[in-house]
Amino acid sequence: MDQMHVEGDLDLDQTLYSEAEIVTRLKEMATQIESDYEGKDLLLVGVLKGAVMVMADLARSLDRHVEMDWMAVSSYGSGTQSSGVVRILKDLDTDLSGRHVLIVEDIIDTGLTLSWLITNLRSRGPASVEIATLLRKPEAQRMDVDVKYVGFDIPNAFVVGYGLDYDERYRNLRCIGTLSPHVYS
Ligand code: PRP
Repeated sequence: MDQMHVEGDLDLDQTLYSEAEIVTRLKEMATQIESDYEGKDLLLVGVLKGAVMVMADLARSLDRHVEMDWMAVSSYGSGTQSSGVVRILKDLDTDLSGRHVLIVEDIIDTGLTLSWLITNLRSRGPASVEIATLLRKPEAQRMDVDVKYVGFDIPNAFVVGYGLDYDERYRNLRCIGTLSPHVYS
């Protein structure tokens, strides 16, 4: 859906990135990934649900073979904050032994989820585990999360669209925008 279909047009404060800007940035990231993984197999691991759109566009921007698998994790917490306590809701189907793994995420906020996930995946004997995220908030830099590919560093605002939700809505918004506080306060 486009921004004009968001109810009342008042839910979004501001559009941060248009669909075209997102796809252009993902293409740049894909070019770097192609170069870095030349001659190596590559397994993309998407983290449900938010990463669906990023995975779809990043994977299709890669002019090479990749495999894709998915994990669903839940970080205990409520509303707009994650807690860092993570449990696996859906695990990978793929054995990671000897594999080059690239975790694909929509956003790193506190960094707690990715910090936990990268430790978990590295314990499974892969050749490498790296992270590609479309968005990163400044707080993530306080955590010890080594992120190899970042689309955009964004301000500390509540963002929705392009996979990112508030209460399971707005994921299908084409752009990424900041949500008006009146929606969640
Ligand atoms: C989001 C996002 C990351 C996590 C980042 O997922 O996709 O997995 O939060 O937050 P953190 O850096 O503070 O840990 P969310 O838990 O909202 O689930 P979803 O992808 O299903 O929307």
